[in-house]
Amino acid sequence: MKLSAIKTNLQEILPLRNLFLQENNFQIRYNAQHERGWSDSYLITHNEEKIGYGAVAGKDKIPDRDSVFEFYIIPSFRKLASPAFLELIYASKASYIICQSNDLLLSSLLFEFTQNINADTILLQEDFTSSISIENIIFRKRSDNDIVFEHKAEPVGDYVLELNKEVVATGGFLLHYNMPFADLYMEVREDCRRKGFGSYLIQEIKKQCYLAGRVPAARTGLDNIASRKTLLKAGFKIAGFMLLGSIKK
Ligand SMILES: CC(C)(COP(=O)(O)OP(=O)(O)OC[C@H]1O[C@@H](n2cnc3c(N)ncnc32)[C@H](O)[C@@H]1OP(=O)(O)O)[C@@H](O)C(=O)NCCC(=O)NCCS
Repeated sequence: MKLSAIKTNLQEILPLRNLFLQENNFQIRYNAQHERGWSDSYLITHNEEKIGYGAVAGKDKIPDRDSVFEFYIIPSFRKLASPAFLELIYASKASYIICQSNDLLLSSLLFEFTQNINADTILLQEDFTSSISIENIIFRKRSDNDIVFEHKAEPVGDYVLELNKEVVATGGFLLHYNMPFADLYMEVREDCRRKGFGSYLIQEIKKQCYLAGRVPAARTGLDNIASRKTLLKAGFKIAGFMLLGSIKK
């Protein structure tokens, strides 16, 4: 039996990546790293036959290639996942695994091969349709004439909440994720927080997201309690966590 991990180009791993996406039918946080050229692709072979792939990118800086963030072995060869993964580590010299806890294959390898595991981000998925209503608030698309308050955490979104002719919140959804998922974000003007605006805004953006043919998803820092509670109130549920571990030497 000969297992190898061979550096290759993105094109070559794409058919296998389609299988990965089919198996992991949820928002992939680092989906765009491939197409943006921020990762190295490795083909995993068994006796010269293609059985999977790995992808390695920078944990902190884009030019680095120190972290395995995707790994896939076709189901019929899955029992070779651990030795195949060791070949990938050897070939790529990666020092970390970054993975979503809902990706069960890479999570199991994370627990097998790494130490000092920690999480910094919560991943959320669609759960239910909330029915929050607030009087005198208008939800609409942002227009070029809108005067938007200074955003400190998130980009200015395509949708706004208007109260007394002022924009008090903005949000939107990003599309650079695996189909059919989109990533929602929002920011409420500081003096208008904790009045239900954030959760109402997310509720309405979710509807727009579906109308655009996308399934809403979101993520937030583990310590951002306000964001987490807002997303849960607006009908998301926790799908997993981003995990980081250092590969044992
Ligand atoms: C996150 C944010 C959008 C929430 O907006 P908001 O208008 O205050 O949210 P809501 O009033 O709809 O609150 C929704 C829930 O979160 C809770 N909540 C909001 N802020 C909270 C805080 N600082 N601490 C604890 N709970 C909080 C509310 O109590 C409410 O829960 P409840 O109905 O069970 O009481 C706002 O804090 C913000 O703009 N933060 C900066 C940007 C940001 O972090 N965006 C999210 C990136 S993913």
